[in-house]
Amino acid sequence: MHIHILSVIPELMESPLSHSILKRAKEKGLLSVTLHPLRKWAVNEYGQVDDYQYGGGAGMVMMCEPLEKAILELQKENKFDEIIYLTPDGKTLNQPMVNTLSLKNNLLLICGHYKGIDQRIRDHYVTMEISIGDYVLSGGETAAIVLVDAIGRLIPGVLNDETSALTDSFQDNLLAPPVYTRPADYKGWKVPDILLSGDLKKIEEWRYEEALKRTQERRPDLLEGE
Ligand code: ADE
Repeated sequence: MHIHILSVIPELMESPLSHSILKRAKEKGLLSVTLHPLRKWAVNEYGQVDDYQYGGGAGMVMMCEPLEKAILELQKENKFDEIIYLTPDGKTLNQPMVNTLSLKNNLLLICGHYKGIDQRIRDHYVTMEISIGDYVLSGGETAAIVLVDAIGRLIPGVLNDETSALTDSFQDNLLAPPVYTRPADYKGWKVPDILLSGDLKKIEEWRYEEALKRTQERRPDLLEGE
């Protein structure tokens, strides 16, 4: 899986990509993430990539030309399955979308800034628009990292215990059950006996009941489609 990210502040994403699971995915050769600084395709020597919006109003808009030049140049070397624009007015990201995207080979993510990107790039190049939630971030970079993280951990071989992604919250429309580790008794706060019983069937049943209870209490909307 190759993910290319186009951004005015690529440095913002370096740290999350260099640690933990994403680092491991890169080291194992299962995921490559390439950051492309949009200013490389700026319209002048001052590095300009944005301009005032037509019709007036506060906030700058990212211009067509740098974005188009960048996309065309990257398309010469890559066949993108999707060109994704991260934007608060996109489709809200959920686990089924992440599952689908994790099966692709080559993605280009575009991070917006200021008031967003010129609509014409959205009309003519972008194939998917994704929001990571109903709130506004100062740029698409943090959203891009969320997306890369969610996708990266689903690539086979990235997680040590392959089953652990399957038991994530949301994979079966249920939130995850509570988890405990040693000690079994911490200051009198005890781990439920069933988890210490060694009876795997009973433990599975308990986990399912707890997951269901938690989902009913916190996210009944997840159960509605059933
Ligand atoms: N850019 C700004 N806010 C965003 C959001 N909520 N999701 C995706 N991209 C964004």
